[in-house]
Amino acid sequence: MKYKGVIETYREYLPVSENTPVITFYEGNTPLIHSKHLSDLTKCEVYLKFEGANPTGSFKDRGMTMAISKAKEAGKKAVICASTGNTSASAAAYAAQAEMDCVVIIPKGKIALGKLSQAIMHGAKVFEVDGNFDQALNLVRELGEKYPVEIVNSINPYRIEGQKTGTFEICDQLNAVPDYFCLPVGNAGNITAYWKGFKEYYNKKQIDKLPKMTGFQAAGSAPIVLGKPVEKPETIATAIRIGNPASWKTAVAAQEESNGSITAVTDDEIIEAYKLIAAKSGVFCEPASAASVAGLLKRRKEGKLPDQQLVVCVLTGHGLKDPDTAIKSGQKPKSLPCNTSAVIKELGY
Ligand code: F0G
Repeated sequence: MKYKGVIETYREYLPVSENTPVITFYEGNTPLIHSKHLSDLTKCEVYLKFEGANPTGSFKDRGMTMAISKAKEAGKKAVICASTGNTSASAAAYAAQAEMDCVVIIPKGKIALGKLSQAIMHGAKVFEVDGNFDQALNLVRELGEKYPVEIVNSINPYRIEGQKTGTFEICDQLNAVPDYFCLPVGNAGNITAYWKGFKEYYNKKQIDKLPKMTGFQAAGSAPIVLGKPVEKPETIATAIRIGNPASWKTAVAAQEESNGSITAVTDDEIIEAYKLIAAKSGVFCEPASAASVAGLLKRRKEGKLPDQQLVVCVLTGHGLKDPDTAIKSGQKPKSLPCNTSAVIKELGY
């Protein structure tokens, strides 16, 4: 069967009608990859849901197909978002297909290069501001109130609806429900969406249990863990450099209702996991995504994860989004003369 994208595949779970124009890049249907290495390390069964394989390279596409299709249905001519990068890349691409204007507000100097290049190439009107994501989102909220532009951040409920489809896919791919479901938490839309998805699948009797929602924030940007907003959030994982998440309450509800947890991982732990996933499991994700695996390893080390659990870690974005961090984190290529003996000597074969 030809795969038709998130909206056609999960139409019965989504607020769409025959009148909704479907703006799609056939997002979703991303690989769920068993990691032998991480399974051996943790004595659990660990799967990586690689959302970096979406058309614009992140999970945002699942929500964006919904948000842009619904904006188009409502006759909107322009969309706007604040972004740490991925939302803007996705919004710009979907708006281009929908022939709508896309306005993007980003925190100056804190967007990974790949993401910025996407927004620019898709023709968005990109503005960088002297402020962080939280301030940019406040600006967007104001503009959305005063002007006829549709906000496509995850405060737009259609984004959550689209993103929840990741849950359905995981349960269908596994033919089981994970015991622990690990993911990074930034603006907290995704943990909200996934928990909604699990509950809906449960209520429709597609699954017979629910996972523990296990979210991770970067230690320098961990408002939910600290219980108060962080005025100057910092982390190498720029995608989740957020100090006052819009979906804070629903993230806490997901944690509490699922008997899960939201805890912090340091930048060092994030980078270590980022390198490990790429080198030992062959999956290249961006730093923020690696927070899910960093957190898993940390909880295991702390004795907070029993043996033989079924674990899914969501890798939210592709590693190519942030080539700078990759180059800085890895070994530089060594310069050699162009002959076989030089290479063989280096290899020590
Ligand atoms: N991982 C990546 C790669 C992200 O880009 C984001 C958020 C998250 C995790 C966190 O998801 O916000 O739903 O809790 N990126 C947003 C953006 C903020 O603007 O692209 P969340």
